[in-house]
Amino acid sequence: MEKITIAIDGYSSTGKSTIAKQLAKALNYIYVDTGAMYRAVTLYAMRNGFISENSKDVPGLISSLDKINLHFVFNETLGFSEMYMNNENVEREIRAMDVSRLVSKVATIDAVRKKLVSIQQKMGEEKGIVMDGRDIGTVVFPEAELKIFMTASPEKRATRRYKELLDKGENVKYAEVLKNVENRDYIDSHREISPLKKADDAIVFDNSDMGLEDQFSRILHFANRVI
Ligand code: C5P
Repeated sequence: MEKITIAIDGYSSTGKSTIAKQLAKALNYIYVDTGAMYRAVTLYAMRNGFISENSKDVPGLISSLDKINLHFVFNETLGFSEMYMNNENVEREIRAMDVSRLVSKVATIDAVRKKLVSIQQKMGEEKGIVMDGRDIGTVVFPEAELKIFMTASPEKRATRRYKELLDKGENVKYAEVLKNVENRDYIDSHREISPLKKADDAIVFDNSDMGLEDQFSRILHFANRVI
């Protein structure tokens, strides 16, 4: 069977990665979470003093980009790939609120995007890939055979994210999570380079009132129509 490229884009916390992971597993495809890569660069920038709540040293970060080595390692026990930065498993740290607060700022930097897009394109050279992010259908793989644009109301998305963070033991308030989701969507949709937008040929998928099973079977159906 011919392998295809599947691009899943959309707003923050729409559950893109959950569906993308399930889909990759069902099709025996590779799954790539590009948000994790932007988060890892952000963590590096925070640790090295290139970004904080009130400062941003873009030239400093750009001159250090070559020192950031990113790769995914499949964790058999968990059943998904984890993000490694310079050989350190950063999966947990990159999901924390302090990274979420700064990641969209780092994602506006052209040199950061160029570096990550080039890695992502290499990962997808052989097709057989499900990649989720903000610019996959528009920039990374404009020729993808299947493009999904996921959306849901900000309140539904914040509720999901809030529960996830509480489950992980983070001490957060719902209002803070909602504000973060709205802020990131605003920055992501309004940035100059590769803003979050639906590709002309993407299928819009609003999952505000849809359970996981229902979402998965509908998206698998879209994929089977193309494969
Ligand atoms: O997908 P996730 O919410 O983890 O992504 C974190 C942030 O990384 C997004 O809010 C966005 O600023 C940035 N991002 C991006 N392009 C992608 C993936 C993520 O700009 N392809």
